[in-house]
Amino acid sequence: MARTDPHSYFDDSQPRTRHIGLELEVDFEEHRLEGWAMLDLGEPSEGPLDLDTKDLEIYSVEGEGGEPIPFDRGEEEPVLGKRLRIHLPEGTRRVTIEYVTSPEAIGLQWLDPAQTEGKEHPFVFTHFQPIHARTCMPCQDSPRARVVYRAAITVPSELTAVMSAGSAGKGPGDRPGTTTYLFDMPQAIPTYLIALAVGKLDSRALSPRSRVWAEPGTVEAAAHEFAGIEDMITKAEELFGSYEWDRYDMIVLPPSFPYGGMENPRLTFLTPTLLAGDRSLVDVVAHELAHSWTGNLVTNASVDHFWLNEGATVWAERRIVEALHGEDAATLGWAIGEKALQAEFKRFGADAAVTRLRNDLQGTDPDDVFSSIPYEKGARFLVLLERTAGRERFDAFIRSYIEEFRFTSINTEEFMDFVNQELPGAADEVGAQEWLYEPGMPRNAPVFRSPRLEALNELADGFAEGERPTGAQIESWSPAETLVYLQRLPRPLDEEACRWLDENLELTGRGNYEILVEWLTIAAASDYEPVFERVREVLLRVGRMKYLRPLYKALGGHPRTQALAREVYAAASPGYHELSRRVTEAVMDQYEE
Ligand code: BES
Ligand code: ZN
Repeated sequence: MARTDPHSYFDDSQPRTRHIGLELEVDFEEHRLEGWAMLDLGEPSEGPLDLDTKDLEIYSVEGEGGEPIPFDRGEEEPVLGKRLRIHLPEGTRRVTIEYVTSPEAIGLQWLDPAQTEGKEHPFVFTHFQPIHARTCMPCQDSPRARVVYRAAITVPSELTAVMSAGSAGKGPGDRPGTTTYLFDMPQAIPTYLIALAVGKLDSRALSPRSRVWAEPGTVEAAAHEFAGIEDMITKAEELFGSYEWDRYDMIVLPPSFPYGGMENPRLTFLTPTLLAGDRSLVDVVAHELAHSWTGNLVTNASVDHFWLNEGATVWAERRIVEALHGEDAATLGWAIGEKALQAEFKRFGADAAVTRLRNDLQGTDPDDVFSSIPYEKGARFLVLLERTAGRERFDAFIRSYIEEFRFTSINTEEFMDFVNQELPGAADEVGAQEWLYEPGMPRNAPVFRSPRLEALNELADGFAEGERPTGAQIESWSPAETLVYLQRLPRPLDEEACRWLDENLELTGRGNYEILVEWLTIAAASDYEPVFERVREVLLRVGRMKYLRPLYKALGGHPRTQALAREVYAAASPGYHELSRRVTEAVMDQYEE
């Protein structure tokens, strides 16, 4: 008996699921997926098979000939959910589990028509990372247990279903007015990368291997924003090797999507807040694309090693940005990341256990400790190795790392063994032990500088003494530079300073959400009334946690902004994803009476 993942009942001494076949009907009335999952074990098997489930009602478990197979359920555990133990009779190759999901399943968000752009049709999307696949299907829900899958998804005929898989056609569903979409994912992926979205969708081709999906009213804007995707894929291939997933499609989801992006293979999920109109937020796409190598080809064995997945991807993202837009652009990315990192050290405490790269999250809900630390600290650790080995050697190392571990899921120790083998001495030289196993930021953290960044920082540091950028300076700033400047400003500011900023940088009307939300955060913390309406609008529309957390936090500083937050939350929260509600409530619990 060996469980390898603190967040799963997966046991690597038991038979392993090689293939999942899903046949599900999407019920928008009841907010349920209903049907069956067929788990193919690849070979005749026997004995116990432990699966993860959460909020699933299991109707039956059957063998290949339809014969019932005995099973029992464990106790409901708060983080893990409920174990489903199937007692496989000798020679079992396949089991079919008939089940229905719960309307409360955290892996699904059901949207009323009012929450969509078109306002006419409902929408549903999944989000499974890190451990929510089990709320939509019984499975070995640990990244070590990679699977291929096929699916038949039945939806109302006016809607379209898309998945993180190849399309395998469609046909009429069993009941009139329904259509069944077929999918085939022939490459082995962790269950957290299985993904589905259903809604009124349209698409535009961007290149022979890429298209973008969105609601009809958004699809043109999406096609414009992501028109450069083929260049980005080509650059990434030059850096990390050929793109292995056939297509790179994207879908722009409704604004309640709780993340910026999610690297579902063949179909990246994106927030519509990226649609700035000027392509200024495509670094998020660079990040999700980079996961095609660092993540989807090689991922973490469990959430304890999450840094391997996200840290490597931030490193790769900034290399793509550098290749496309130059070193200064990448340096700004590092500066923005540094801000996020510092904020997290402040939130958790500089020597909190969760600030270690290699974590121990047994008994902890991974969503409760999600932060930028594995991203930014992890990426900095890799930069240190890169600077120590030299770029050429390090790039060769990354390519051989991806080659060596492709289609597997590894832990920190496996990664370091490979580092020691390929870059002997480098780990000791950078102090890898401290980086990986100790909290806080090691003193030898890499520094990222550029003359432009320094000038921006100095200018912002003079703000309190009355220094202001000239009109010409403001004109010359890229959106990322404007953001860096704003992030560096002191807060709260007085009314005069707020008015000056808004008038001269034209902030309240911005379509770039990074800039807009940074500004609204400053203004909210400053109790600056002219922005309240815009704050209300943003919080009512957008469910992205990255924006909700700072905005609701900034509203905590004054009685009337607190009142605004409470009023807006009451109206907005029914439209938020369960994860977004949790984050926001945790922030508001900190408000002082
Ligand atoms: N895979 C993550 C999102 C994620 C991680 C969701 C863990 C749930 C659990 C995705 O690649 C990501 O990191 N998205 C970021 C954007 C990125 C540019 C840092 C986001 O959503 O903001
Ligand atoms: Zn990521």
